[in-house]
Amino acid sequence: MAPSLRVTLSAIAVLVVVTFSVGAVPTKSRFDWAKTKYVYAFGDSYTFVQGTKGHANFSFIGDAFDFAFTPQELLENKIIPKNTSSDGSSWTEFLTGCYAGKPSDCFPHQLWNFAFAGADIDKSLLPLHHNFTVDLVDEVKQWVAYASNVIPHPAAETLVAWWIGINDTGDTLHNTTLNFKAFWETEMQSLFGAVQNAYTHNLRGTYLFINVPPLERSPGHIGAPDAGLYKQNIIDYNSALAAHVASFAHAHPDVTVLAFDAHAWFGQILDNAAHYGFKNITGFCECTDSSFFWYNTGHPTEHVHRLLAQAIDAELVQASR
Ligand SMILES: *[C@@H]1O[C@H](CO)[C@@H](O)[C@H](O)[C@H]1NC(C)=O
Ligand SMILES: *[C@@H]1O[C@H](CO)[C@@H](O)[C@H](O)[C@H]1NC(C)=O
Ligand SMILES: *[C@@H]1O[C@H](CO)[C@@H](O)[C@H](O)[C@H]1NC(C)=O
Ligand SMILES: *[C@@H]1O[C@H](CO)[C@@H](O)[C@H](O)[C@H]1NC(C)=O
Ligand SMILES: *[C@@H]1O[C@H](CO)[C@@H](O)[C@H](O)[C@H]1NC(C)=O
Ligand SMILES: *[C@@H]1O[C@H](CO)[C@@H](O)[C@H](O)[C@H]1NC(C)=O
Repeated sequence: MAPSLRVTLSAIAVLVVVTFSVGAVPTKSRFDWAKTKYVYAFGDSYTFVQGTKGHANFSFIGDAFDFAFTPQELLENKIIPKNTSSDGSSWTEFLTGCYAGKPSDCFPHQLWNFAFAGADIDKSLLPLHHNFTVDLVDEVKQWVAYASNVIPHPAAETLVAWWIGINDTGDTLHNTTLNFKAFWETEMQSLFGAVQNAYTHNLRGTYLFINVPPLERSPGHIGAPDAGLYKQNIIDYNSALAAHVASFAHAHPDVTVLAFDAHAWFGQILDNAAHYGFKNITGFCECTDSSFFWYNTGHPTEHVHRLLAQAIDAELVQASR
């Protein structure tokens, strides 16, 4: 990474370590990114990678109709390279260096990615995009039932990334009867119920929460009449998320809780696009041209994933000190 990029990114301090002083704290292992062997991810199309045992173009493993898998299937499952929402490598692959093949063969970071493209938080709150979609609540249930006893997750060597809300804020935009702020609060109850489910089943160590980018600036919405409402809804969703991340950190002092502000980071890149080599931030190109920011109406290009992973990596290094 160019030194200038590094300085700019740390200057905007997009990653926040959420800490509280508490009396008697359960032992917390010090986060050390270099020693983090297992990276787990839960989320949607921004995060998912394709697996040989996944639903084509949607997941690493399984779907709602094919929910169970055996230990053997999980361990033999291979990541198919560059088969994501950008048709390139995803930020989770750039971050871990785990681009292809069996995650257990990756070094130093294994990528265990349970994200499902098109996921909202909870199917009891918003309809599934497809009848085979696995929402975030169920991604965690799937991990609990079929993966938690198969893949190691010692706290000192485990990072868990949570990135959701992109589809939730998009799907609700045209609901004229919804009380949005109350709805984000309801969504947070579901989201942190799922986070607690992971914690209860001993997925601990370090949690990284990522918020929703300013998608009112995506080609599907830029300049549209709904862009103002979309912008505000995303800001409000992110405020609800930040409050719940803080209370989760307070209630779970044995977990190192990190938050990456993707909203600020996307804004920073879009505002200084030329500096990062982007020539087109309003249109899109379903191609490998890295001068485009957007790959299609709602997803960024592989180059954005690469830069995002670099920014997260830099902050994980910093949080390890
Ligand atoms: C991604 O993989 C699916 C099968 O899992 C295949 O249908 C599709 O063509 C692949 N796409 C790309 C861009 O390689
Ligand atoms: C997966 O996506 C690729 C690229 O967009 C497309 O060519 C392919 O037909 C899709 N595969 C399936 C099974 O839908
Ligand atoms: C949500 O997921 C679907 C896939 O089901 C995708 O096509 C859509 O663009 C996503 N919405 C947003 C706002 O990114
Ligand atoms: C899922 O939806 C597809 C079409 O959207 C339909 O053809 C299929 O029968 C449905 N599957 C089940 C099990 O309901
Ligand atoms: C809008 O939100 C309300 C309250 O959650 C829900 O009952 C209704 O079905 C939603 N309408 C649409 C069109 O999604
Ligand atoms: C961005 O790309 C779109 C789609 O190719 C094109 O229509 C538009 O003119 C481009 N804008 C700039 C500023 O190059």
